[in-house]
Amino acid sequence: MNILVVGGGGREHAIAASLSKSPLTKKLVVAPGNPGIETIAECYPVAADDIPGQCKLAIDIKADFVFIGPEIPLVLGLKDELLKLGISSFGPSKKAAQLEGSKTFSRNFCKRYNIPQPEFKYCTEIETAKKQIELLNGYCVVKADGLAAGKGVIVCDTVDQAIIAATEMLEKNKFGDAGKLILIEERINGIEASVFAVSDGNDAVLIGTAQDHKRAYDNDEGPNTGGMGAISPAPALDQKLNKEIFNNIITPTINGMKLEGCPYEGILYAGVMITDKGPKVIEFNCRFGDPETQVVLPRLNTDLVSIVLKTIKKNLKDITIDFIPQSAITVVIASKGYPGEFKKGVLLPSLKNFNDKTEISVFHSGTSKDKNGNIFSNGGRVLSITSVGANVQNCRQKAYDIVEAINWEQGFYRKDIGKL
Ligand code: AMP
Ligand code: GLY
Repeated sequence: MNILVVGGGGREHAIAASLSKSPLTKKLVVAPGNPGIETIAECYPVAADDIPGQCKLAIDIKADFVFIGPEIPLVLGLKDELLKLGISSFGPSKKAAQLEGSKTFSRNFCKRYNIPQPEFKYCTEIETAKKQIELLNGYCVVKADGLAAGKGVIVCDTVDQAIIAATEMLEKNKFGDAGKLILIEERINGIEASVFAVSDGNDAVLIGTAQDHKRAYDNDEGPNTGGMGAISPAPALDQKLNKEIFNNIITPTINGMKLEGCPYEGILYAGVMITDKGPKVIEFNCRFGDPETQVVLPRLNTDLVSIVLKTIKKNLKDITIDFIPQSAITVVIASKGYPGEFKKGVLLPSLKNFNDKTEISVFHSGTSKDKNGNIFSNGGRVLSITSVGANVQNCRQKAYDIVEAINWEQGFYRKDIGKL
């Protein structure tokens, strides 16, 4: 098989690593990729959101399928464009990707199908937003409708805070068009978990669960980030809860999307909160999570290429997905200052000694390379160090040993990922 993976972060490094292990993979190309991915695949400098460029590359490499990693090309309709060229892909269509691309679409959809979620109201006028905020005593969540690079969700404690957030979106254009329509949501409480299902449009199966660590600093303090580390499986979930989430959230979503004429194919990522009234949807994403993929895929004991092919052929019905080993943890090393201002182009210590260790993977997120092979930081999240093993305690030690040995002074990391 010739495979094109779209994207160039830690998630795509983990996806490429899994695909490269398949006996079915002949040629693996990643665009744009990164210096870590370059060690296992051919990389081409085509941006993930360059839809014509990605289509051309897929034709040039005679791709048997395209694995679309990030949300932006999905929401822009890369699958639909590839389909016009007769090229198969793994990921939802533009219409189906609205489950992530428009938070109001997603909330209205869940309402239509009785999928458990917080109460919400959407507004385009600040006066309507204020009324709703006051009704909730400011204990609410203000969300931009569209994609806002993970920054468009403001969790509020007070009326003032929420009004500022809503005003910035509606009147000060903080997120451009993405914030012209906003949601004011009831703020719910509980433990969060990321649940990943794969669907062929008709049937779905769980492909892993994880707990992300979204806040920048230890003890869940500091600003929200894209994720500073993750463990799999999610400790908050057991078989009973997995079943409940599958039956009450995943299955009605897949069935509903089919009924509405946009069958959902690819990864459905449900961000759920386990409340005292059961699991509720915080958000849907139309792709694998980052850094969750760096713990979900290393545990997968079923060939990823076969899963993709069964999805494309709408043949997932009888698949069983196995996980070995039991646990995985990933610790993100980020540039100092992230998620605020940070420097790029800072030299990283040599990573050579860490790559051949068994049960350890050094995934690159934001890195670049010069012609002498030196690696530099090129983003907020720079590396994620994954360790797999029989239990979280054992994995933690191994992952943190490597993080400490890398010893990058310009970076920082959380010390409590997976701490029980
Ligand atoms: P998102 O970008 O949608 O994942 O939201 C970021 C974070 O905001 C989530 O991980 C939750 O911690 C929090 N959040 C979003 N919506 C709600 C809600 N309705 N109630 C409580 N917390 C929420
Ligand atoms: N880790 C959160 C996300 O991928 O959206």
